[in-house]
Amino acid sequence: MTKAVSGFSKLTKIQKIEWLVKNYLDDRAEAIDTLKKYWNDDEKLQQLHDEFIENTVSNFYLPLGLAPNFLINERYYTLPMVIEESSVVAAASKAAKFWSERGGFKTRVINNKKIGQVHFMFQGKKPELQQFIKNIKPKFYDAVRPITANMEKRGGGILDISLVDKTAELENYYQLFAHFDTRDSMGANFINSCLEKFAEVLQAEAKSSEILTSGQDIQVVMSILSNYVPECLVRAEVSCPVEDLSENSQMSGEEFAEKFVRAVKIAEIEPYRAVTHNKGVMNGIDAVVLATGNDFRAVEAGVHAFASKDGQYTSLTHASIENGIFKFWMEIPLALGTVGGLTSLHPMVKLALDILQRPSASELMEITAAAGLAQNFAALRSLITTGIQQGHMKMHLMNILNQHQATEQEKTEMIEFFTHHTITHSSVIEQLEKLRA
Ligand code: MEV
Repeated sequence: MTKAVSGFSKLTKIQKIEWLVKNYLDDRAEAIDTLKKYWNDDEKLQQLHDEFIENTVSNFYLPLGLAPNFLINERYYTLPMVIEESSVVAAASKAAKFWSERGGFKTRVINNKKIGQVHFMFQGKKPELQQFIKNIKPKFYDAVRPITANMEKRGGGILDISLVDKTAELENYYQLFAHFDTRDSMGANFINSCLEKFAEVLQAEAKSSEILTSGQDIQVVMSILSNYVPECLVRAEVSCPVEDLSENSQMSGEEFAEKFVRAVKIAEIEPYRAVTHNKGVMNGIDAVVLATGNDFRAVEAGVHAFASKDGQYTSLTHASIENGIFKFWMEIPLALGTVGGLTSLHPMVKLALDILQRPSASELMEITAAAGLAQNFAALRSLITTGIQQGHMKMHLMNILNQHQATEQEKTEMIEFFTHHTITHSSVIEQLEKLRA
């Protein structure tokens, strides 16, 4: 049994690896080799990665793929996408090409406000608290002046601070609820720093307040931004005449559009389907979010909360046919940044932002939303026509071949064979064995 370890973070990288291998990996030398194989030869670059987090022992690669032909608001983009799932980039590219021939994506940022809260308990009289907060409000702004000065120069800052009464849900519980404009940064550090200052002011002022006659203290529980950002919304839309959707001789544009709208309706009313439907949207969103060094956990948490805002988890996307026009759209909360965080640190993130022509945070919201809509379109298009497995398995073929150490020659022959045969895991193995025999 491995014992608890103390002072682990003080060990050198190689000592950490030795400890790991001895305690968890049966002293396997090849485990050490694997970890080392992923170190970067460029020591400076490796050090940069080592210092992103604590206890780094190696790097963990994901592929960076490109999805070209995204026509968004009349401008062509090539999207950098970081993702491990084999069919996602191909699907995004295909959908992008399809819509580039039908007017492209129309996107628009609806609003761009972030939210933060100071959660606190107060046992006194509510009208006194209201008066007290009103009186001390300027002090909140004064206290954060050193933090907000720069943000204000860029046109952002604190938009408002209000008192929220939550005592009906939890006894004595109130919030300071603040909106922020963080311009091109995601703004987590900025918001949290402001909130912690508000909390200090709140507690200090309460102690000397003459308004709070009941003499009770304010007990701050915590101060933190919210990753639920329903006021940081972006809209993406595609549309075209129904007849332009004709798939091939098997399905008319009208049939396709009707079946598509029905598939979206199912996701709107059926949570089991909605989760998978939205997972497809997030395939596109997360891949761009990761490539651009943004916080995909924050985005995921906020998006799914938004998908259940009316009490039932539902589809993020919607579709309609009106007067012969097919319309497919989505409004989605995306708190993204193009400055700060990893954006100026991680060389691949910098490059990804260069590929996108250095977008503002708002532009990145629009691009990312288009990626999500494209991905959902591609998934539904497959689901209602050929089924998803045809495309998936085509992309998965290479994974199976790699798993079985296929040579380049074998890969070429297998790809050729499976352009005319159905791909399943067992059919690939069977064919590979035949080839090798
Ligand atoms: C797979 O990663 C995503 C899909 O399941 C999405 C969907 O079902 O809409 C294909």
